[in-house]
Amino acid sequence: MVGRITPEFKDRLLARTDIVEIVGLRVQLKKAGAEFTACCPFHTEKTPSFTVSPAKQFYHCFGCGAHGNAIDFLIEFDRLSFPEAVTELAQRAGMSLPADDGAPTGPDPAPILAVLEQAAGLYRQALREHHEREAAVAYLKRRGLSAEVVQRYGLGLAPSGWSFLLDALGKTPAEQERLLTAGLITERDGRRYDRFRARIMFPIRDRRGRVVGFGGRVLDDGEPKYLNSPETPVFVKGRELYGLYEQQQALRGPPRMLLVEGYLDVIALAQFGIDYAVAALGTAATPEHIKRLLRSAPEIVFCFDGDRAGRDAAWKALKTALPLATGQQPLRFLFLPDGEDPDTLVRKEGKDAFEARLAEAKLLSAFLFEHVEARHDPATPEGRAGLVDEVQGLLQGMPAGSYRQQLGAELARRSGTAQPRQGARRAQGRPSVPRMQQAGPALTPLRRAIALLLDDPGRAALVVERPADWRELDNPGIALLAEIVDIAAAYPGITTATLAERWRDTEHERTVRRLSEPGLIALIPAEGRAEELAGTIDRLNREVAAQRRAAEIARRWQARGGGDGHGAG
Ligand code: UTP
Ligand code: MN
Repeated sequence: MVGRITPEFKDRLLARTDIVEIVGLRVQLKKAGAEFTACCPFHTEKTPSFTVSPAKQFYHCFGCGAHGNAIDFLIEFDRLSFPEAVTELAQRAGMSLPADDGAPTGPDPAPILAVLEQAAGLYRQALREHHEREAAVAYLKRRGLSAEVVQRYGLGLAPSGWSFLLDALGKTPAEQERLLTAGLITERDGRRYDRFRARIMFPIRDRRGRVVGFGGRVLDDGEPKYLNSPETPVFVKGRELYGLYEQQQALRGPPRMLLVEGYLDVIALAQFGIDYAVAALGTAATPEHIKRLLRSAPEIVFCFDGDRAGRDAAWKALKTALPLATGQQPLRFLFLPDGEDPDTLVRKEGKDAFEARLAEAKLLSAFLFEHVEARHDPATPEGRAGLVDEVQGLLQGMPAGSYRQQLGAELARRSGTAQPRQGARRAQGRPSVPRMQQAGPALTPLRRAIALLLDDPGRAALVVERPADWRELDNPGIALLAEIVDIAAAYPGITTATLAERWRDTEHERTVRRLSEPGLIALIPAEGRAEELAGTIDRLNREVAAQRRAAEIARRWQARGGGDGHGAG
């Protein structure tokens, strides 16, 4: 396992990586002045608007807004996770990864994983050999499961006794502790017993195929219908997707990923040749789930019941997905007929009819407006106002780029609101005007300063030379600006790539990512940017002076007026 990846490690890694080489191995690059260009690998285009800057160690597409450093490129292009991308770059650079010393990350996962694997084996064996197997096999038959999928998904049986696992795997106190940590037994009033009893067992495997937990279904209509492993050091529900490992074994490069609700939905679909369904584990889809799905296929379909609860769950999924939606990969919503779930439906109508539904599933944009317009009638001014407010709020959380812009344009069309002008017509032969600049909100001075520093961290020198009153500005973003200035000043020669990397997985990641998009400042000529930054800092300094004056006046006023806030000015 990879240990904690420190900022220092990432600094060294990016310093020893050349983004031109990383991108060049995957995309045909052409030299153009100090940069390299290509047709963007992240959206379809005929003329190149994708650039790679060796100086910044950054890529950027003026068309779709995609941008980032070498790690981002591998995450986006090769669909790697962050640790995978770092591992890949480290191997290229001949660096050894920080070892996982285990200590700060909790208990050693190896023995927990081992006991889960043993349990899965015992459950499978019970389904073949235990004297209670008949009822279980009959149940699986009644549900229409083939022997092949039962084997592929490793289904098993937890017999009805209280100590099936406890007897087999918990002979010593140390072994019992391990069973407790793995969530396989529980303890009440000092007594320990098996968590799963008289249930069909569904092993939940992580992406590498290791059993990390279980779901267990009753054989009759007992309660609860499903019992799941609790979260453990090796099982984080918001991260795992049921069926993802089996999907990846079955089918490389699936046409889409389908997110369904139930274990048996995943299995039934697989049995019918729909090999790309996975389920979140009894929870709503998390951002991590969605990122993982986006890395696995070019399209995602979220599947829900057609009833009220299904619509609400779908809306929740939409809101989780929006901050990750770039428009490069369609997100769709499929609502099933009343009383059906994917399991019953695919058995009733077969693969082709079910896939036809998938092909026609609602695009995110359609579901979004349908849902909002059900509450805000666009035929009335009141409704239109509500529509604009609600949708604009949602769009604000989206990544900048043409998808957000198009949803904004659709909102304008539906609400009859005038659109911000679509920018100057593109002159032939000139580089296109970046879209962010056309429709995006003007940058505040603070954001402009950050964008100009991310554009060229060397400009920090110029900030450090000036008065530092701006640091006292009463504004939540000022701490971020100060941090950027301090890091950039402390590491002369730091690239945009390395600087921006510092904020991955922090609360400011989104802001830094957005403000490192070169399109934001594309209208400021390169040779004027240093001066622009100086002017912006001076302006922030003046704001501090104004804030101080205002505070001073308020203080005097209070001293004089003695608390009557309503006194005439
Ligand atoms: P459903 O109640 O829709 O059941 O739960 P299902 O998947 O159609 O199950 P069958 O067809 O009756 O066997 C959907 C999912 O919600 C979780 C499980 O992951 C289940 O697959 N769930 C449901 C629980 O975790 N606990 C429960 O008690 C019920
Ligand atoms: Mn079902």
